[in-house]
Amino acid sequence: MSAYLTAANTMRTTRILSVKTESPTVKTFTVKDKLCAKAKPGQFLMLWIPRVDEIPLSILNAGDGEVSVAVKAVGEATQALHALGSGDTIGVRGPFGNSFTENRGRILMVGGGTGTAPLLFLAKKLAAKAERLSFVMGAKTKDELLFLRELSVLCTEQSAIATTEDGSYGLKCLATEPLEKLLNREKFDMVYTCGPEPMVRRVFELAGQRGIALEASLERLMRCGIGLCGSCVIGKYRVCRDGPVFTAAQLSEVKDELGISKLGFDGNRIPL
Ligand SMILES: Cc1cc2nc3c(=O)[nH]c(=O)nc-3n(C[C@H](O)[C@H](O)[C@H](O)COP(=O)(O)OP(=O)(O)OC[C@H]3O[C@@H](n4cnc5c(N)ncnc54)[C@H](O)[C@@H]3O)c2cc1C
Ligand code: FES
Repeated sequence: MSAYLTAANTMRTTRILSVKTESPTVKTFTVKDKLCAKAKPGQFLMLWIPRVDEIPLSILNAGDGEVSVAVKAVGEATQALHALGSGDTIGVRGPFGNSFTENRGRILMVGGGTGTAPLLFLAKKLAAKAERLSFVMGAKTKDELLFLRELSVLCTEQSAIATTEDGSYGLKCLATEPLEKLLNREKFDMVYTCGPEPMVRRVFELAGQRGIALEASLERLMRCGIGLCGSCVIGKYRVCRDGPVFTAAQLSEVKDELGISKLGFDGNRIPL
């Protein structure tokens, strides 16, 4: 049997169980799917919106035969998905990719936008085991700060920091500003990050300067999700197959591209 004819890569049609509005632009969709219900934090799935497109989405939560994804409406496929409701049919492949390693020490998570989703899944797994759990999250506006309440409950007291670019909530700056101060003030064993790639690059640099281990989940354009088409390439890696979670050592190998440029759907390189 071909390595690509796996159960995970077989499209399953299923129905939307529930839809929850998280912000003016983000909704969480929960569907029944036995395979994705076994996913680990960091893994993603491919979600097919009938007659529109198939898109990669990080897994926000999994268990009890169900899986959830938090989706921001940004274009044709995600807007079409936002128009669907409970009982509507969609398709699922996955879970794909690797997952975060689960460190039990002093943990710092840094999330931007929908990049907060896989980190919340990880935070739920680590909260009871980690020595300390801190979170820095950034968004353009208050409306786009995701899962702030859930993360505040999971984090060690007073250690969930929020920033907005317009100052509508928390500190008025990029997430990397309080992050740098926090890293100067406190010791951490592990940093996990996911979000816009320029942010991920800065987090990678700040953790690296201090010798702190780091894992970052990357988002690149994806078509197949299983290492065939090459659209998600970064340096020598295919994000769907070798990632989406990469260590600091792997990110050092792709420094020329990380947060700087990526391939567009037409194969041309586009700045980030
Ligand atoms: C591993 C991974 C995990 C992701 N997790 C989430 C998530 O949890 N929540 C979420 O809202 N979004 C997530 N995304 C991004 C999501 O896949 C895109 O927003 C979606 O594909 C856009 O489709 P569209 O037709 O609505 O928009 P388009 O009109 O196609 O594009 C709008 C924007 O989305 C980007 N985009 C388009 N297609 C893709 C694609 N196949 N892969 C990546 N980016 C794309 C484009 O660069 C453009 O900036 C993830 C992407 C990857 C690769
Ligand atoms: S999406 Fe096709 S190789 Fe990664």
